[in-house]
Amino acid sequence: MMANMAAKTQALLCMTLVVSMAIVVASAIVPESNQDPRELTTFGRNFWSTADKQHYRITQDGEVAELVLDPSAAAGFASKMRYLFGRFTIEMKVHRGDSAGTVSTFYTSSLSGKHDELDFEFLGNENGKPYVLQTNVYASGVGDREQRIRLWFDPTEDFHTYGIHWNKEIVIFFVDDTPIRIYKNCEDLGVPYPNHQAQSVFASLWNGEEWATQNGAIKLNWTHSPFIAAYRNFEAEGCEVPWYKGNVERCNTSETDAMLERTTFHQLTTRHVARLQWVTENLLMYDYCKDYNRYPQGHPECSRNSGLQLIGPLPLKHLDGLKIIGHVKKGYYSDI
Ligand SMILES: *[C@@H]1O[C@H](CO)[C@@H](O)[C@H](O)[C@H]1NC(C)=O
Ligand SMILES: *[C@@H]1O[C@H](CO)[C@@H](O)[C@H](O)[C@H]1NC(C)=O
Repeated sequence: MMANMAAKTQALLCMTLVVSMAIVVASAIVPESNQDPRELTTFGRNFWSTADKQHYRITQDGEVAELVLDPSAAAGFASKMRYLFGRFTIEMKVHRGDSAGTVSTFYTSSLSGKHDELDFEFLGNENGKPYVLQTNVYASGVGDREQRIRLWFDPTEDFHTYGIHWNKEIVIFFVDDTPIRIYKNCEDLGVPYPNHQAQSVFASLWNGEEWATQNGAIKLNWTHSPFIAAYRNFEAEGCEVPWYKGNVERCNTSETDAMLERTTFHQLTTRHVARLQWVTENLLMYDYCKDYNRYPQGHPECSRNSGLQLIGPLPLKHLDGLKIIGHVKKGYYSDI
């Protein structure tokens, strides 16, 4: 009986040991298996989000992040790393169907008091009408430099690449391999330029019905929610500025310049310039540079930023894939 008990006790001890060892082993693994699986994806490595799982969804293969807007919440994600100068691209597909009132974004921002910011903002539209793509540049807290274009494709149909190329001399907004806007450093003309604050990279989907669609005339219709914006293949190459290092001088070096050299407008090919010019001539719907109601004095940087023009007729061979779609009148948003 006693022997039996002892054997049992020993067995029990043994088991306890095995179990506790198992717990030790398991506890090394548990944090990971208990970890939000979103953390293990490309998105998890690069971004954080305060949105819940219903509003920030990572697809099963871990490659696509979806932001969801419904009556209960909007959503977004932000890069864990900050950068001073860099190239940031993401593939994005916006909500199909009625998207009036919604704003889907990809942008960089310093989030400071006098913040710098470089924006892509998709302004939703009534069902069947094309999205408007707005870009904006903030420097030292001053924005109001909106441009709006129509796209030469339907951005709800497939993923396309949206890129912000940013160095000391210039910011270039790319859609696929087409530059749609340049913004040069005009500090010599007294115009602030984003070059002394690190920026994080963001994406968001939110309710902008007060202004987004036909100047706010068309409101968001929640019957058509949830609205979804999908993102994949984020790439960043730039001078990293960790949060604990406020010092951004480390990015003001010839190494950083060399890394981002390809970004300068000097490196834009004839093809790039031809496409930029075509987009400007055919798809630009609103340009703060031409809004003399809002800015009777104009802006000193404008002539330089529209100064990339080819002499003579645009070479057709460079314009493949560019076409006018949709029925939005030119100048529709002439005052925003
Ligand atoms: C970068 O360095 C140059 C020369 O060393 C200096 O003139 C310039 O002000 C610096 N720019 C910033 C944003 O710190
Ligand atoms: C919202 O959408 C529903 C369903 O398509 C439609 O019946 C309703 O009239 C819309 N509401 C407004 C205010 O347009």
